[in-house]
Amino acid sequence: MELAGKTIILGLTGGISCYKSAELTRLLTKASASVQVVMTDSATQFITPLTMQALSGRPVFTSQWDTRIGNNMAHIDLSRKADAILIAPASTNFIAKLANGLCDDLLSTLCIARDGPLLIAPAMNLQMWSHPATQRNVSQLRSDGVSIIGPANGAQACGEIGDGRMLEPEDLYEALVGFFQQKLLSGRRVLLTAGPTFEPIDPVRGLTNLSSGKMGFALARAAQQAGAEVHLISGPSALATPYGVKRSDVQTAQQMYDCAMENVGNQDLFIAVAAVSDWRVSNIARHKIKKKHDTDVPQFSFVQNPDILASIAALPQAPFCIGFAAESDDLEKHADAKRRRKKIPLLVANLGPTTFGQDNNEVILFDDTGQQHFARTDKVTLARLLIAEITKRLPTQSKK
Ligand code: C5P
Repeated sequence: MELAGKTIILGLTGGISCYKSAELTRLLTKASASVQVVMTDSATQFITPLTMQALSGRPVFTSQWDTRIGNNMAHIDLSRKADAILIAPASTNFIAKLANGLCDDLLSTLCIARDGPLLIAPAMNLQMWSHPATQRNVSQLRSDGVSIIGPANGAQACGEIGDGRMLEPEDLYEALVGFFQQKLLSGRRVLLTAGPTFEPIDPVRGLTNLSSGKMGFALARAAQQAGAEVHLISGPSALATPYGVKRSDVQTAQQMYDCAMENVGNQDLFIAVAAVSDWRVSNIARHKIKKKHDTDVPQFSFVQNPDILASIAALPQAPFCIGFAAESDDLEKHADAKRRRKKIPLLVANLGPTTFGQDNNEVILFDDTGQQHFARTDKVTLARLLIAEITKRLPTQSKK
């Protein structure tokens, strides 16, 4: 329901990636957006208006002489109802027309006549994309206030490999959802840890925990959508990297510590969501440990892992630090004591027996002024609420 109440004009121009726009329409309608499809003549060579009508649940417009809407001026009436226009795919030709203010069909006329935001997702062969004329046109569009989403790098329909692929439907969806979020963290840099750690005991086994990474990944996504430059350091997790987020994968607590320390300079915020192992095995076996007889059990000795959060909070130029806590007993006492021990301004304590792997969470925030309870909700919503709370407490100046 992330796009409930939003009306999106989805403009299709000529390109093989029109097939991705069919899936994008599904994603948008599933998120409760109203999708009004407008297609150029060339687009109808690649996918039929009927397909797009069936997926969007609305008649598709292709002609500027169409009189089915409002006061018979489709180019005005359609754009006035839209919260945003997204052109996906945007061809080389269409970008050139937009950059020069040409309007010789419904879609280009609608873009010129619009009174709201315009986003475009370029899709073309790599030579067409890197051509100086296209790059000139794209810069012109940027300075005209148009948001350019992508393109991606990879294999192209023509068989060549390089920049020019239209972003995948899921990425376009994410970019659009992000576009509508308040830019509370604009110009800020955020470093996060998320997921479990894995401490080896031999080359094929190890100690880990039940953290899925969902809360940390949701916070990384919410921070990126709030306008921050986000770097996510993740323990082993199968979750997809949120759109626009830089990700570093690590296994052990020591690797997470090293990666965090290496990247903490210039960060405005550090959010430690990872469930970091407090100990690691000091006598890791070089070869897989074999069971020699029925009563045989291996002996391990442990050493403590570094505390990433406490170490970063103790740095002379420390970013604003936020910790998470999961306790099995006496949450309030332990959580606030932990916040004071680690010398951090804000700690988020998970309520309930376990939040690991769940899609929702209920938390209490602890800071110098006391506690604040957040009712159980899904982790995506909670992440947005937490980013808003964190923003209120941030020093006004960015470190950049
Ligand atoms: O001490 P405890 O593990 O309960 O503290 C939880 C908080 O500290 C979390 O934010 C977690 O990410 C962080 N932490 C850390 N490094 C450790 C242990 C915990 O950054 N070695």
